[in-house]
Amino acid sequence: MTEYNSNQTLQLVDKAGLIHPYSSLHSQMDRDVVIWDEAKGLWLTTTDGERYLDAAAGLWCTNIGYGRKELADAAASQMVRTSSIHSFAQFSNEPIVRLTERLLGIAPDNISRVVYGNSGSDANDTQIKLVRRYNNVRGLPQKKKIISRISAYHGSTIASGSLSGIPLVHRTFDLPIDGVLHTHMHDFHRRPANIEDMNSYVRWLADELDALIQREGPDTVAAFIAEPVTGAGGVLVPPDGYFRAIREVLDRYDILMIADEVITAFGRTGAWFASPEFGVGADLISVSKGITSGYFPMSACMISQRVADVLYGETTDDGLFGHGFTASGHSVAAAVALANIDILDREGLLAKANVMGALLLRRVREAVGDHELVGDIRGKGMIIGVEFDADKASRRPFSDPTAVGSLLSKAALEEKLLVRGGHGRVLAAMAPALVATEDEIEEIVRRFILIVDRFAEKLKASGLRG
Ligand SMILES: Cc1ncc(COP(=O)(O)O)c(C=O)c1O
Repeated sequence: MTEYNSNQTLQLVDKAGLIHPYSSLHSQMDRDVVIWDEAKGLWLTTTDGERYLDAAAGLWCTNIGYGRKELADAAASQMVRTSSIHSFAQFSNEPIVRLTERLLGIAPDNISRVVYGNSGSDANDTQIKLVRRYNNVRGLPQKKKIISRISAYHGSTIASGSLSGIPLVHRTFDLPIDGVLHTHMHDFHRRPANIEDMNSYVRWLADELDALIQREGPDTVAAFIAEPVTGAGGVLVPPDGYFRAIREVLDRYDILMIADEVITAFGRTGAWFASPEFGVGADLISVSKGITSGYFPMSACMISQRVADVLYGETTDDGLFGHGFTASGHSVAAAVALANIDILDREGLLAKANVMGALLLRRVREAVGDHELVGDIRGKGMIIGVEFDADKASRRPFSDPTAVGSLLSKAALEEKLLVRGGHGRVLAAMAPALVATEDEIEEIVRRFILIVDRFAEKLKASGLRG
């Protein structure tokens, strides 16, 4: 057995045996990893005793901050009581029943049923199955295609990875699968050159969607999936009227709307769910991450009455629902989720996300808005994105965003501030825990100013500019 008595040993064993998600298999062999030892609030400490400020809440998850004992207590006492009790067939447990009641209490009014899973990816896979079944029950077996958007992130399984509109997720894995299509994402900063105002842009996006549906045949298209605020694909806040315009197109052709609220739900945008404020009109909603603040794997698909009416109306096979995972409705996950939702509620973290998020957005704009490399700064609640351009005046993007983005990531790590990067764009995304104090917001901004300067220096030295 290895003696884990030094950071060096951990590094060696990590390199020899561990494949890290979304990282280069080659650079894993020669690059040291950052090994976390402890986490509290927004702060992480490595095994070497280095402290980092996490402005990304892990992977947009830790809404209540790290190290909340209440969640550990909820998990421990539920583990002692019921261990890994499942919810297959006629079996249930008290936490999952109470969580279901709680979720239906805070969800948009049309939501009436919940089915549980373990990750955002499996929630979106389940949505595809629900949509397929919905149209099979309605006697429309040819109506199965799903339309997603370029730059969207919906997960990395075969099906949810297909929904994702990011080349990295498809490349080398033979994705997307048949029946998944992609239309344009709202991305005003990168809009076509001939579009100037927001209204024409929204019209253009809705017309593009309409044209795609017409080309494919409306009888073959079942659902459209969208994040209310796009996260990993670029922190893209929808323009006013966008979702209403999209919903109108979908209604014209009897197409369902799936809202992927894996990042946005549970306070990130300043509300329990982001869909209502943006007029998404979701028939199905996926949630994960913030449901337990990432303390325990859990996801849920939330089903509207419109969809439930059809699913429950099925008469063949006694309505048998042949779907579920071992940990669907896990009692410990549910106990953790309940404790997490209690904290979000009791500490007023939804309102706080709005106040602190507005402060962060304003302060970042004041601090780096005029910088020659900063093209756009946008946000909603406690999620903001800073996009960098090769040429500010013409909004020209970098021609090699991956190489330039890695300089930005290096600069951020050197300043010990954790931010998320972008796919196909040079971006710093920030989504701090909703418990961030004013001082912590100021510290994020202070470090970010240094990061932008460091990044500019590295860029100059690299010769990559342009
Ligand atoms: C909007 C969205 N949907 C789905 C997923 C996939 O979730 P998971 O990584 O838990 O499978 C993510 C993950 O970042 C996400 O941001």
